[in-house]
Amino acid sequence: MLQLPSALNDRESWLEPFEWYEQMRADTPVRYDERRGAWDVFGYDEVKSVLDDDERYSVDPRNAAGPRGDDDGPIGGTMLTRDPPRHDELRSVVEEAFRPRQLRELEPRMRTITNELLDDALAEADGQFDLVEALSYPLPVVVIAELLGVPSDEREQFKRWSDTLARSADDTTDTEAIVEDQQDAGEEMAEYFGRQIEERRQNPRDDLLTTIATNEGAGGRLSRREALGMCTLLLTAGNITTTNLITNAVRCLDTQGAETHARLADDEAALKSAIEETLRYRSPVQAILRNVTSETNLGGETLQPGEEVVLWAGSANRDDQQFDDAGSFRPGRSPNQHLGFGYGTHYCLGAPLARLEAKVALDVLLDRLTGIEVVDTELQPVRSSFIYGVESLPVSYESAT
Ligand code: HEM
Repeated sequence: MLQLPSALNDRESWLEPFEWYEQMRADTPVRYDERRGAWDVFGYDEVKSVLDDDERYSVDPRNAAGPRGDDDGPIGGTMLTRDPPRHDELRSVVEEAFRPRQLRELEPRMRTITNELLDDALAEADGQFDLVEALSYPLPVVVIAELLGVPSDEREQFKRWSDTLARSADDTTDTEAIVEDQQDAGEEMAEYFGRQIEERRQNPRDDLLTTIATNEGAGGRLSRREALGMCTLLLTAGNITTTNLITNAVRCLDTQGAETHARLADDEAALKSAIEETLRYRSPVQAILRNVTSETNLGGETLQPGEEVVLWAGSANRDDQQFDDAGSFRPGRSPNQHLGFGYGTHYCLGAPLARLEAKVALDVLLDRLTGIEVVDTELQPVRSSFIYGVESLPVSYESAT
């Protein structure tokens, strides 16, 4: 399990890790951390070069020296834990559904869901509500549940599963207990999706579970364990990440003032660009993992087969060598070749979906609320060593429609 470096273990540091990243880029852009038994990579060029090299850096946990356990249990490998060529075969099963053209049809439905969620929040709000609870959390869960074809009223269950899988240990937590919880969640998900797949075989529908079910089994492209892996990945990969994109965007825009808010509400291109800048400036995924497959050099260091490499995308995205004035949030930044969705073979499959959800959520918020501001409270970082965001974000507003 991925652990946070000691320097990021306390609340304040993990909320604002950027100064530490800067220091690491200057002092030790590639370094080995004895305590965690892993390499850390902080510079843009180095992070990108590793993501672009499937030969020397593998996503497959079977290439790690230590036990990572992915290949035991009921859930099998996924596109995110397999290298090419198997990766490409797995990804091709569902790729079509995530193309921007396909997703455009979903936009009106997303807008309806967003408006309903906001209606519910405003009905109880007294000039203030928690953005995470009201909108950033439920929206991605409802959308992916609808795409997969599972009832969205089971979303509390999904939240529990995704939160458990994204959790990781710091120095004060019981690693074994987390691993056990994750195994339990895996078994529950396998059982749940196993039943759903059987049901789709009997009654095919127009949903992603049917696509997965029809590709599974004899003569199909997926084994049962891979089909379950695919369901689990799609359900969990896009939830906590998109939640934090929406939340982090509101945090970033809080520094921008009413004029910018009004402009973004009216100008779709400007809003899309502000979302890209959020992905760079407060990247929902800060760290990406790889395993070394053969002895290799990186930033003057020699890496050995089996060693783990933690790629700090959140640091690469603040690298002055790549971005002008990297430490400033500039909503109109162009070009903006951030690594917030990764790079290369494993570039995020759900990027078009996440971008669309964030655009709809922010558009509706900026359209319906004036004077939206983050309330000054003690923020709690999300309990994960690779996801970056806050557990809740109280916001206030002047008027609402
Ligand atoms: C803002 C939201 C999101 C962020 C920041 C994000 C980030 C990422 C990153 C950094 C990777 C690359 C991981 C690696 O190279 O090891 C990735 C891969 C992936 N993401 Fe996302 N993601 C988001 C939303 C979504 C959504 C909505 C879905 C789908 C429901 C999704 C599904 C996937 C899948 C399936 C992969 C693996 C792709 C592959 O291995 O080919 N993600 N994501």
